[in-house]
Amino acid sequence: MSPLEAGFPELPRRLAAADPGWSETTDVLVVGSGIAGLTAALHLREQGLHVTVVTKVNIDDGSTRWAQGGIAAVLDPLDTPQAHAHDTEIAGVGLCDPVAVRVLVEEGPARVRELIRRGAAFDRHPDGSLMLTREGGHRADRIVHAGGDATGAEVQRALHEAVRRDPWIRLVEHALVLDLLRSAGGRACGLTLHVLGEGSEDGVGAILSRAVVLATGGMGQVYSSTTNPSVSTGDGVALALRAGATVTDVEFVQFHPTSFMSAAVTSVQRPLISEALRGEGAHLVDEAGKRFMVGQHELAELAPRDVVAKGIHRVLRATGADHVYLDTRHLGAEFLEHRFPTIVASTRAAGVDPATDLIPVAPAAHYASGGVRTDLAGRTSIPGLYACGEVACTGVHGANRLASNSLLEGLVFAKRIADDIARDLPGQADPVSPVAGPAWVADPEVRPDLQRAMTRGAGVLRSAGSLDTAAAELSRLAGRRATPRNAAWEATNLLTVAAALVAAAQTRRETRGCHWREDHPTAADEWRGHLLHGLDRAGRLSQRFEEMA
Ligand code: SIN
Repeated sequence: MSPLEAGFPELPRRLAAADPGWSETTDVLVVGSGIAGLTAALHLREQGLHVTVVTKVNIDDGSTRWAQGGIAAVLDPLDTPQAHAHDTEIAGVGLCDPVAVRVLVEEGPARVRELIRRGAAFDRHPDGSLMLTREGGHRADRIVHAGGDATGAEVQRALHEAVRRDPWIRLVEHALVLDLLRSAGGRACGLTLHVLGEGSEDGVGAILSRAVVLATGGMGQVYSSTTNPSVSTGDGVALALRAGATVTDVEFVQFHPTSFMSAAVTSVQRPLISEALRGEGAHLVDEAGKRFMVGQHELAELAPRDVVAKGIHRVLRATGADHVYLDTRHLGAEFLEHRFPTIVASTRAAGVDPATDLIPVAPAAHYASGGVRTDLAGRTSIPGLYACGEVACTGVHGANRLASNSLLEGLVFAKRIADDIARDLPGQADPVSPVAGPAWVADPEVRPDLQRAMTRGAGVLRSAGSLDTAAAELSRLAGRRATPRNAAWEATNLLTVAAALVAAAQTRRETRGCHWREDHPTAADEWRGHLLHGLDRAGRLSQRFEEMA
């Protein structure tokens, strides 16, 4: 991989931190407690392995519980895996790995049934059959949901309870992972981490393990407005880069078309207004009440997400407004309250009643389609290091993830990872000294500046100029250093993933999926492939292009 041109900060190869003051050992260390991490832990237990799950705040604080729409899987006898694969690949605009997609759609239904056996209660018709709905990019009703629009909360509840029932899954909360530990042979053999706790686990320590599974979720917090919770700071991707793993497709950040815009929402995380509302007949309208998506795509408001986000962005640019509207009034109060209780509660709390008012909405960063590159068994380029869920790039999403394929990906690849680990798990190796190279942490105060720079320069719409400005600002922010502590480690992770994202977006001179370049407005054949990123010994980002086979 060749290092990038100047203009980028040199990044740390290691987070500055105290030496580990405690250590413990487990068979497999899982980092993250959303659908991917907890499902991996449960499958690993079925293989008889001792598992430790570490999570940054509390077990339920990740992205999973915020998921509204549902899980896409072929559960209707009239639907087919081929049709689901087709929709996934259309959304991915030529960059999906067809083999990975086949794995996803063929193994998905069994994994959803397994989740039901673990206790997740999905919404059903009076005859007991599963209710299936539709979201953008799907040409069939294939999305299961729970509690109307509270799918993630139900999935998280069921998995949390299953994990709590198993005494051989050890849970360590308030644990921020720092860096990967590797053996003399280069295999992952644990992690350093910082635990805010009491007793022997307080402070910086090490957990040694025979394999490590990263399931740390996304990086939406690199932007000023995201549907992701505050914990989504790209920790897994940044850790993998520092450890020398390959990261790919990070330019493809999906902006959800409809986050709730209200002066009452002051946090970086914005409430999601599920696409399932459009699946049930809601319309997007501009200030004048015109349905602007009609005529832009055959599926109108139910076009793939990138198409709808771009449609909204064009209206915002033309009018100077900061939102368009979702019209749900014709769906009626009774239906809305029953089918979308979460959305109705959050909008009414801000003074907008979806039964009588238009809902102001705008795009917000939602999902990282790229991440740590893995094969079909979830293996990264570092032996013994696996990645699962949003932190990973398995190849199923290509340039733009299809709605409700993310929870499914977590389920499917968690099982594959557990099977692979159980097939070939060596004994515990001794870690060697930490990697050489720069070790520092960023000033946590840079976080809002970084978010603003990324939103302006590398948001929904990008250009060479906007990306160069973002890169220069990241470089400047990287010069502001601090002493090690949680907020500083998180800021360093944000800086690391933001730099990789901007570098990728600068290099990819085309518009494809959720990467929209104003100065290169069409998809180009020579860009049909993936940008792979690494971090060299000096902490410089390097890049290589790999054409699609
Ligand atoms: C939504 O409910 O609109 C989000 C679902 C997803 O991101 O797949």
